[in-house]
Amino acid sequence: MAVTHDRYNSIAIILHWTMAIAFLVMLGSGVAMTYFELDKSFKFQLYQWHKSGGILLLLASFLRISWRLISVIPKLPDNLAPWEKLAAKAGHYALYAVMFLTPLSGWLYVSSSVYGLPTIVFNLFEWPHFPGVEGNETIHEIAEEAHFILTIMFGILIAGHIGAVIKHAVYDHENLLRRMWWNSKG
Ligand code: HEM
Ligand code: HEM
Repeated sequence: MAVTHDRYNSIAIILHWTMAIAFLVMLGSGVAMTYFELDKSFKFQLYQWHKSGGILLLLASFLRISWRLISVIPKLPDNLAPWEKLAAKAGHYALYAVMFLTPLSGWLYVSSSVYGLPTIVFNLFEWPHFPGVEGNETIHEIAEEAHFILTIMFGILIAGHIGAVIKHAVYDHENLLRRMWWNSKG
């Protein structure tokens, strides 16, 4: 594996951008299906896609975290202030946490429903319910609240994440996007 120190490796870049788009689509579909007036059958379809996409992202998050633990990642730029390095690390860890906990809470929410509706991932295979929680109203309520709060945290963290990239580009003339893309050096 080629190791460069000024950018993330190719697998990390591919995972970052495909998952970034997928999570933004998940946030959008979640808001649309919960709060918008939609045609009933389209709404039903949207729930199915949302649950399917969310389960795939739960699995992808495991893959991504595992890859993060075993691969080499670039050092943060030296010109960042110590508090900025700390904020960047804390922000990234928080993003990994919500990446994993948001779909997990969604899965717990549908698994603890009294209706026991199945989750058929993109009409291909049935994803099992989280074991031992079916019909448990306490878990159902906690999971619903958790899913809601986690999605708000997700939105805030993504806004901060994009804001930090813009801040560094505008005020520090440091293009961090180059670290998350292929550049001429590697
Ligand atoms: C759509 C706009 C986005 C932009 C412009 C962007 C940009 C970046 C950049 C430039 C980095 C490298 C930071 C560095 O210099 O070390 C990065 C890292 C990261 N991004 Fe994003 N990102 C975006 C969306 C997202 C989303 C939606 C997520 C969460 C699902 C996310 C999660 C992460 C994480 C966890 C890292 C840290 C990688 C690591 O060190 O393991 N990003 N992002
Ligand atoms: C991958 C990450 C996910 C994101 C970013 C996400 C995002 C959202 C958002 C923004 C909402 C609307 C706000 C709310 O009421 O909570 C929502 C609702 C919902 N999500 Fe997710 N979701 C994800 C994964 C999942 C998964 C894996 C499932 C189930 C297998 C799921 C099931 C649901 C359900 C059933 C609702 C409606 C909740 C209600 O009616 O109160 N979500 N989601």
